[in-house]
Amino acid sequence: MEVRIFNNADEIAQAAADIFTNLIRAKPACVLGLATGASPVETYRELIKRCKKGVISFKDVKTFNLDEYCDLPRDDENSYYTFMHKNLFDSVDLPAGSSHLLDGNAADPEKEAAGYEKLIELAGGIDIQLLGIGRNGHIGFNEPSDKFTEHTYKVKLTESTIEANKKYFDDGKMPHYALTMGISTIMQAKIVPIATGSEKADAIGAAVLGPVSPSCPASVLHEHKDAVMLVDKAAAAKL
Ligand code: F6R
Repeated sequence: MEVRIFNNADEIAQAAADIFTNLIRAKPACVLGLATGASPVETYRELIKRCKKGVISFKDVKTFNLDEYCDLPRDDENSYYTFMHKNLFDSVDLPAGSSHLLDGNAADPEKEAAGYEKLIELAGGIDIQLLGIGRNGHIGFNEPSDKFTEHTYKVKLTESTIEANKKYFDDGKMPHYALTMGISTIMQAKIVPIATGSEKADAIGAAVLGPVSPSCPASVLHEHKDAVMLVDKAAAAKL
């Protein structure tokens, strides 16, 4: 995996946006894997700017998001559906129907997960996956565990993830389950992991240096042949 170290989140956003810009220009009908959370916000802001300037267009692009909370209405302010519309989809020329998010309220999560995998396959697979990394090393919502997961599935979130994300929920009460792409699904794409801050340093260390272990899911990236990691100096402190 190639690792590029930057001074700040803005430089990371420029570099990530460059990678996506090159892909979209070379392959206008590409398939993007997208993430939510704090890490990608500035990258999306930069992509919006470039789209408004006419440097890129999303009109033939398809997108698939990594994950979505369960038991949260789709239009809740904290759903990843709302996040993506607010931070990217509503400000670019991506046609309605070209963006895909898991339905965290599906009556049959297994069917929803299998259908999502099928949609990714029918789209030709994800060209580039933007990836945030949890402070406990989770990728998507694949939490530390005793085995690597494969395909999309319903997961119980760990205390660490709930602790990190409950600040977004007014009453501190947040969902304890999510649907997420599995590790094998994620690993099929070219991957652009991004991270800032010292609280990510252990996970970044494991992702770059190994050892590969499901107790730190990001460590699987150590084996990826086509990944470009973009981090700031604080996140790179253990390298
Ligand atoms: C979000 C996701 C999560 C986040 C991770 C880091 O779609 O899959 O794995 O990328 O929790 O979150 P931030 O960027 O908020 O530190």
